[in-house]
This record gives sequence, structure tokens and C-alpha cells, in this order.
Amino acid sequence: MSEVITVHEVGLRDGLQNQPRVVPTEGKLRLLDALLDAGLQSIEAASFVSPKAVPQMADAAEIFASLPQDRSAGYEALVPNEKGYERAVEAGVTTVALVLAATDTFNRRNINMSLDEAIRVNEAVIRRAKADGIRARSYLSVVAACPYEGVVPPETVFDLAARMFDAGADELALGDSTGAGTPPQMAHLFETLAHRYGPERLAGHFHDTRATGLTLTWVAIECGIRKFDSSIGGLGGCPFAPGATGNLATEDLVFMVTEAGFETGIDVGGLRRAVAIAEELTGQTLGGRITPFLDSREKRARAN
Ligand code: COA
Ligand code: ZN
Repeated sequence: MSEVITVHEVGLRDGLQNQPRVVPTEGKLRLLDALLDAGLQSIEAASFVSPKAVPQMADAAEIFASLPQDRSAGYEALVPNEKGYERAVEAGVTTVALVLAATDTFNRRNINMSLDEAIRVNEAVIRRAKADGIRARSYLSVVAACPYEGVVPPETVFDLAARMFDAGADELALGDSTGAGTPPQMAHLFETLAHRYGPERLAGHFHDTRATGLTLTWVAIECGIRKFDSSIGGLGGCPFAPGATGNLATEDLVFMVTEAGFETGIDVGGLRRAVAIAEELTGQTLGGRITPFLDSREKRARAN
């Protein structure tokens, strides 16, 4: 039996949060249905952040109230602080994602907190989640380089990882939020953390800004990591990270790891239908790097 890779779809949150056109709740649910139809089982559905900071996420509670109950998928919501945590629990969220940037400036721009304050808030939310029986996934973002402060020393990442695991985080995802990580840099981070905490407690979150998304995925796979975030059609880009483009596209990730012999349970054809819906909703042209190849393969199949 082949090994499984879990693909965690973040298009509905990381993907949409930066889109200038506000997508109605009904549209998000339609996209969610297409993602589930394609076989995605792990989904970040929204964030409970300030609607003033990110208007696109103002309907997070409605999204959670409308999730299809007849599917076995797991859903998660990002929370930036205790207020977000309380709103999420109230809305029925059972897995929260917390985000801590590795530098002071990035935290200030993203969540209006110093690094120290952000650490304390993340620890407090994780402890509350554990006490409430809620799963807590910790994200460390800008782990390779920060657009404001430059290269991040690996020791900083290791210290922050230890703080989050000590507080009770179930899992830690390393975010290369601006796609600035190099393969040796990310190999060092994943290798060290996998050795300390076990690869099954780690995940990778890559942006394809500098065309390194799949390369870094493979680097992490070689360190034993089997869980990766991606976004349908490569949708996304952090509003607080200048120059950041979309996440690694789900279709690129699924195609590559499937070709490499891993099992994802996800159908690339189904992802193409979800890309079309995401394009209609956002008015953007989307699609991973694999799109021209898939188009020509489909054309050839039809001609035969
Ligand atoms: N959800 C909804 N509203 C929230 C909130 C949350 N999680 N946290 C705070 N607020 C509200 C407060 O109630 C207050 O409302 P009021 O003006 O009506 O009194 C207002 O927001 C300001 O609260 P404050 O605690 O001073 O927050 P802030 O202005 O310092 O902003 C964050 C801090 C974290 C709420 C905001 O920066 C944010 O939501 N950032 C998210 C950014 C993001 O999503 N980044 C991408 C993902 S990593
Ligand atoms: Zn991201």
C-alpha cells in the first residue's frame, strides 16, 4: 500500500483573504462543495479575525454554521487572539489554527502585537483550547525570511516551536509565507524539528512566489513530513506580506505527489472544476503551473 499525504486546503482562508472582490457566503460554500467533491478531507474554512482587518472573513460564523454535515472532512479556523478563539468555539469549531510570525515587525503588521505579546496570546489560546478539548494547530510564519527584517535565524524558529509545543500545540506548520525559503534552509528547519518532535506533528505551508513550492515540499517529504497546505488554483497572498503571491496550488501538489507514488484520495479532474469556480468567484485567472500540461493532455485525450 502506498503512503498517504494529507493535503490541507487553505484556499477558503489564505486564498480568499486578500481578494479585493468580497465573495458571498453562498459562493464560498459552492467552492467548498467542489473541493469536497474532488476528495479534499482537510480544510481551513475561515478565520475569526477582525472584519475591519480582513473584510473577506466577516462571515466565518455563517460558514461554520453551513458546513455540510454528511461529509467526513475535518474543518479548521484560524484565530489571531482570544476573542477570535471565543467566536470560533461559539461557531462550533473543533480545530483552531494559531499564527505566530517569527519576527517582531511581521507580528505588528499582521496582528498588531509585538513578538512577545503574540507569543503570550498564542500560548494562552493553545492552553484554553487544550482545556476545552479543541485541537490546536500552531503556525510559525515567515520562518525563512521576513519581508521587513530579512533572514530569520533558525534558532528563533526552534525557540518559538518549543514554546508552542510546550504550551500544548498538537501540530506545528512551518510557513514560508513569502516563498523566500531555500531548500537547504528549509531542510535544516524540518530535519531538526522532525528529530525533536516527530515528523507526524509537523506540516509545511509554502507559497509559490519564487517558484519553490514543490521543491520545498519535496525537501520536507525527505524529512518525513506528510502533511502540506495548498490553495486551489494557487489562490492567495498575504495582505501583510508585500509581494507575496499565492500558496502552492493544490493541483500542482496533488499531481506531483501522486506521480511520486503517494496516495492523497484527491482527483485532479475534480480540482480543475474547483479552479473554475474559484475563477468565477474572484474574477481572477487561476491555475497552478500544471494547468497548461493538463489542458493539452485533455485535448489530446479528446482527439483520440
Ligand atoms: N474577531 C472580531 N473582532 C475582533 C477580534 C476578532 N478576533 N479581535 C478584536 N476584534 C475587535 C475588537 O472587539 C475591537 O472592536 P471595536 O473597535 O468594535 O471595539 C477591535 O477589533 C479592535 O480590537 P483590538 O484588540 O484593539 O485589535 P487590533 O485593532 O489591535 O487588531 C487583530 C488585532 C488581531 C484583531 C487584527 O489585527 C486582526 O484581525 N488581524 C488578522 C490579520 C490576518 O487575518 N492575517 C492573515 C492571517 S495570518
Ligand atoms: Zn500562507
